[in-house]
Amino acid sequence: MQILVTGGMGYIGSHTVVELIQSGHEVIILDNLYNANIDVLDRIEKLTGVRPKFYEVDILDREGLERAFKENHFEAIIHFAGYKAVGESVRIPLTYYKNNISGSINLYEMMDKYHVDNIVFSSSATVYGDNFEVPFKEEYGQGDTTNPYGTTKKFNEIILSDFALANKDISVVNLRYFNPIGAHPSGLLGEDPKGIPNNLVPYIAKVATGELDHLNVFGDDYDTIDGTGVRDYIHVVDLAKAHLKAVEYACKHKGAEVINVGSGKGYSVLEVLHAYEKACGKTLKYEIHDRRPGDIATSYADTQKAKELLGFEVELGIDEMCRDSYNYMIHNLEDQKNR
Ligand code: WQD
Repeated sequence: MQILVTGGMGYIGSHTVVELIQSGHEVIILDNLYNANIDVLDRIEKLTGVRPKFYEVDILDREGLERAFKENHFEAIIHFAGYKAVGESVRIPLTYYKNNISGSINLYEMMDKYHVDNIVFSSSATVYGDNFEVPFKEEYGQGDTTNPYGTTKKFNEIILSDFALANKDISVVNLRYFNPIGAHPSGLLGEDPKGIPNNLVPYIAKVATGELDHLNVFGDDYDTIDGTGVRDYIHVVDLAKAHLKAVEYACKHKGAEVINVGSGKGYSVLEVLHAYEKACGKTLKYEIHDRRPGDIATSYADTQKAKELLGFEVELGIDEMCRDSYNYMIHNLEDQKNR
């Protein structure tokens, strides 16, 4: 089927585009390239043999969006486009609300106007906040978010559920991702944020390549296996496969669903660091610091609903996640040298 992927040039979007094309779907990408590089299109083509149609359009640009809807006949949408840096969202909340909420509403209005009934939304486990016991279950609903980024995910879930309630033809799957890491095993797609990374694995990756000296571990006094924060890490290729299943599910059902996408297992910061050491064959330095404000001790998913509704289970573990992350970093460094 013909699927519009907004934000399809980004980290999770690009991996999902590859899985969709490899399963025989026709993909159209819409992305403003704010946080992505045009090279990704070549890489998708190299991996799949197909160069998807691409619109360099911002979701705030209603005319640009409408052009994409007029020129195609989408059967479904996977909506990734949005700003995603937690700390930045605290500094410039209005930019986050405008882009992630007003921009998304533009997209939902186009769905309404052009009768595109099926959508998968890129939500986040951050909507559980610190209100519930692990494993986080979808039936808990939403907790208190601690930053504007998280609040935009929470609002989008609500907006889409109300949209589906009011329109009997609409089908929504809100996917709540846990912590996506890793990269495509080819080394062609991955995540290499500009500047100093905020998230754990991109930071460790730069310690492994020698770009940063050591990891700052934020807190070793949590009530966890070794005192450091525990998260549910999921390989980005597994997460991409979950989108394929979710979009196929959305097309066969009506109404709105919320579904966790995680492995169901938690790893501490030090366990991840040690797995990465194994992957890169080096000892990586770290220092213990104070807790990071807004962090919770432990987060991992209840994965039952994903299994039941989507038939989805992760296939790759922490060692593959670290191996593919490091492989991507090495590939990228070689690429930069050759330019
Ligand atoms: C994981 C663990 C840190 C960096 C965030 C967002 C979430 C999501 C993914 C974004 C924690 C510790 C981290 C470091 C460390 N969405 N840590 N040193 O906070 O679970 O989730 O990113 O797109 O919405 O909140 O992920 O990778 O930042 O942290 O010790 O330099 O690693 O304290 O325990 P988090 P993370």
